[in-house]
Amino acid sequence: MKRELHIRVNGDEYHLLVETHRTLLEVIRDEIGLTGTKNGCGQGECGACTVLLDGEPVNSCLVLAHEAEGHDVLTIEGLGSGDTLHPVQRAFVETGAIQCGYCTPGMVLTAKALLDHNPTPTRAEILEGLKGNLCRCTGYVKIVEAVEAASCLLEGGEIE
Ligand code: FES
Ligand code: FES
Repeated sequence: MKRELHIRVNGDEYHLLVETHRTLLEVIRDEIGLTGTKNGCGQGECGACTVLLDGEPVNSCLVLAHEAEGHDVLTIEGLGSGDTLHPVQRAFVETGAIQCGYCTPGMVLTAKALLDHNPTPTRAEILEGLKGNLCRCTGYVKIVEAVEAASCLLEGGEIE
C-alpha cells in the first residue's frame, strides 16, 4: 500500500508516494537518488547506511521511510557546502582515514553527531561513539585520528 510521504532531506522538501514497508535507506537512494548513503548489511549491523535524523545517527536500513515523516534527514550529500568540505570530511581526507570509502559516509555522519554532542572527545569516547560503524579496511586507527583532527578543526585549530 502506498501513502504520501513528506520528508525533508538536506533542507529540501520531498513529497512522495511511498509503499508503507519501504525503508528510509531505500527512499533516499532509490526515490530521491542520493546514493552517498550506502547499503551494507541491510540489517542494522554495519552502519554504512547511517544518516542523521533530527541530528541523531540512525541506521536508515532499519527506519521505515514513513517514520521520518516531517523530520529532518541529513545525508552525506548535505554535509559540505558547495565545493567546501565540512571539517569532518576534510579531516577524514587529510588524515588518510578513507580506503575503499564504503563505510565513510556513515562514519563521517556518526562522527559529526558525536562532535556536536562532545566537541573534544577522548580516544575511548570516539571508539565508543563509532562502535556501530564497521570498517573492514582501515583498522580504525586513522579514523580515530580523523575524528581527533576534526575536533581540532571545529575548535578553530589546524591539522598538523
Ligand atoms: S546497511 Fe544499515 S546497518 Fe548495515
Ligand atoms: S574504508 Fe573500506 S570499509 Fe572503511
